[in-house]
Amino acid sequence: MTVLLEIKNLKAWYGPAQVLDDVNIEVPDGGAVGLLGANGAGKTTTLRSVSGNITSAGELRFDGKDLHGLRPDQVAARGIAHVPEGRGTLGDLDVRENLRVGAYLRKGAAAIREDLDYCLDLFPQLKDRLKSNASALSGGEQQMLAIGRAIMAKPRLMLLDEASLGLAPGTAKTVYAAIKRLRQESGIAMLVVEQNANLAFSLVDSAVILETGHSVLEGPTEQLRTMDEVRSAYLGG
Ligand SMILES: Nc1ncnc2c1ncn2[C@@H]1O[C@H](COP(=O)(O)OP(=O)(O)O)[C@@H](O)[C@H]1O
Ligand SMILES: [Mg+2]
Repeated sequence: MTVLLEIKNLKAWYGPAQVLDDVNIEVPDGGAVGLLGANGAGKTTTLRSVSGNITSAGELRFDGKDLHGLRPDQVAARGIAHVPEGRGTLGDLDVRENLRVGAYLRKGAAAIREDLDYCLDLFPQLKDRLKSNASALSGGEQQMLAIGRAIMAKPRLMLLDEASLGLAPGTAKTVYAAIKRLRQESGIAMLVVEQNANLAFSLVDSAVILETGHSVLEGPTEQLRTMDEVRSAYLGG
């Protein structure tokens, strides 16, 4: 399978502090890869490097082309949608406006309307809240909106950062079931950061484990599931 996103020996800094040293990840076209690791391991920083929100060094290629030096809007225009940690919805815009903002780089009103309908079919909870300000939504609805906004950009790759964070277990499951359906129906490739490895493993084909800015382990989901160190650290024994 062709590699869509290729990250090799990625390094990143906040000021003088180096927080990524040797991160290596390949996301196949149409594939879904999990990125696991303890708090502070560098998962968010890895996604922010890809989306152009921080400067990084090393190899960073999307569809064979270098991503270094691009602004976040230029990365988005290449086909990468980032669903950030903390959702990043626009609180004083309503749900429909937030979804529309996701499509701001696109032309073609009919296709945009079709994708909006798709978002509401995927997340029916949002249908009754189209006129509500994003800030008035529950955590689960905000997460759905953040993912919906990314769908509206019609990306080839989605970067998902801790979509389950702060959600009740049932809500987190609902959100992941929708992401799984999206994956099956759209073929969008995904790089999925998740603290809850059980949820991540329900979605991804393979995963990379980060420790203090280094990739330390990677493999197919089925293989990682059976490894003692993965079970004790990420799967609750
Ligand atoms: N804006 C920032 N300024 C300085 N240090 C940061 C900043 N954001 C994160 N860090 C540090 O970078 C490291 C990696 O953080 P992060 O990528 O957020 O980890 P994760 O998402 O895996 O929890 C941590 O040590 C964190 O404290
Ligand atoms: Mg994080």
